[in-house]
Amino acid sequence: MADHLFKVEGLRLSFPDLAAKPLFRPAPRIEVLKGLNFSITAGKVIGIVGESGSGKSTLGRALVRLLEPDSGTILFDGADISHASPSDLAGHRRHLQMIFQDPMSSLNPRQKVGTIISGPVRFHHLAGNPADAAAEALERVGLPADILNRYPHQISGGQRQRVGIARAIALSPRFILADEIVSGLDVSSQAQIITLLEKLVADLQLTLAFISHDLSVVRRLCDRIIVMHAGQIVEEADAADLFSNPQHDYTRNLLAAIPLPEIDDQWLSAS
Ligand SMILES: Nc1ncnc2c1ncn2[C@@H]1O[C@H](COP(=O)(O)OP(=O)(O)OP(=O)(O)O)[C@@H](O)[C@H]1O
Ligand SMILES: [Mg+2]
Repeated sequence: MADHLFKVEGLRLSFPDLAAKPLFRPAPRIEVLKGLNFSITAGKVIGIVGESGSGKSTLGRALVRLLEPDSGTILFDGADISHASPSDLAGHRRHLQMIFQDPMSSLNPRQKVGTIISGPVRFHHLAGNPADAAAEALERVGLPADILNRYPHQISGGQRQRVGIARAIALSPRFILADEIVSGLDVSSQAQIITLLEKLVADLQLTLAFISHDLSVVRRLCDRIIVMHAGQIVEEADAADLFSNPQHDYTRNLLAAIPLPEIDDQWLSAS
């Protein structure tokens, strides 16, 4: 049985250096992921943290194969998807879902919520009635049924983020990438979305990669944490170990940036 949903080895990814003079051919590239090795266990939540520009989103996008790595392997459920063609990826797409930071730009403004959620269910030919699947997913994210008939601009930001989550879970995917999904929301909506995610993770045994700058939220939600710095993994540990006994100076500095009252509360309750 594949306990590791993802197994990543030697993952490298670069972008063309747009600042470089076009005289140089081939155009120079900037390496953003510099040989990453890690795995993601099925049914667990993995946090990806690190300063801005360290490569978190690039890593997430490589996992769901919105980006193709230069080299290395990404085994997803035992299949090497690192260089899979679009047609080969088609069979995996349903299981590689993403929740976006800004639901307003990721939800089609011309579609009603019901269509937004049921459309992918229909596209992937899942068993059962797509409208029923949409209604069930909406209920799971704690939204009333009448939202199905509204357009994205007719609901609040927090409700839109729930719709984005509903759209992903309606497909019963094996993996969900959540990249900074609460950073655009006000504090109380953030707390509600995190509480919802905790419940969904427990109820549906989701395998989730959670990218966030908010380390107190990461600590609450994640089982395991990857700390990235300049395209490399500087530390990987169970969440409890990372917060109580960080091994790397870079991690210590990151943790030191959490507002003190929160650290005190959490460290007291953890010890
Ligand atoms: N499409 C792209 N083309 C060129 N460079 C890119 C592209 N996407 C990202 N980069 C560069 O790759 C590096 C890593 O970016 P990435 O978005 O993965 O960082 P991040 O850790 O997610 O940062 P943040 O916390 O700000 O979201 C940055 O230097 C960024 O400028
Ligand atoms: Mg990012």
